[in-house]
Amino acid sequence: MTLRALALVATHPDVRGRARREMAAAPAGGPPELPVLRASVLESTRLWPTTPLLLRESTADTSWVGGELAAGTSLLVPTWFLHRDDRRRADADRLDVDQWLDGSAAEDWMLTPFSGGHGACPGRELVLFVASTVLATLLEDHHAVLLPPESFDAEAQLPRGLNPYALRFGLSRAAA
Ligand code: HEM
Repeated sequence: MTLRALALVATHPDVRGRARREMAAAPAGGPPELPVLRASVLESTRLWPTTPLLLRESTADTSWVGGELAAGTSLLVPTWFLHRDDRRRADADRLDVDQWLDGSAAEDWMLTPFSGGHGACPGRELVLFVASTVLATLLEDHHAVLLPPESFDAEAQLPRGLNPYALRFGLSRAAA
């Protein structure tokens, strides 16, 4: 997840610039707030969810386009599909960190990278804090470039699958 987020930041100059500015503006002492990096991590979990299916059991009879389902029916919620549903999302295959900053992603029931309701992941805040801090520490004085073969750029449709173990980065010291 952190490596996929790094791939996003490395290939999107606008987000990289905003992340650098928030790092530079962070007050000394204490962990900095890093909303843009945090949103980049959340976007990586939207684009490439680490939990591809959520399992649930209905508690009431429900009506669907195809018919009725009785209470107690087991359901699979396919995050991989819902997060990238290009019939209802203009940003299905592109980076959109702002939806995590303006509250719209939080209101969108289709986006559940850390699940939701009673089953929501209790590790969410820890994960976001650690991942955004790791990225900030790396990017503070390094410039990262995503190397082929997994390479893509800001204009490209982001791949539907991205193997984090195949990602390769070139790192150079950032200009002071
Ligand atoms: C990339 C990082 C992570 C992601 C994307 C993630 C995602 C999720 C998701 C989607 C669920 C709910 C599955 C469902 O609703 O059926 C879940 C449950 C859970 N997660 Fe995470 N998780 C992450 C890391 C962590 C970490 C670091 C911890 C612990 C420190 C943690 C602890 C838990 C626990 C205990 C549950 C079960 C909650 C319950 O059933 O009441 N997770 N996680």
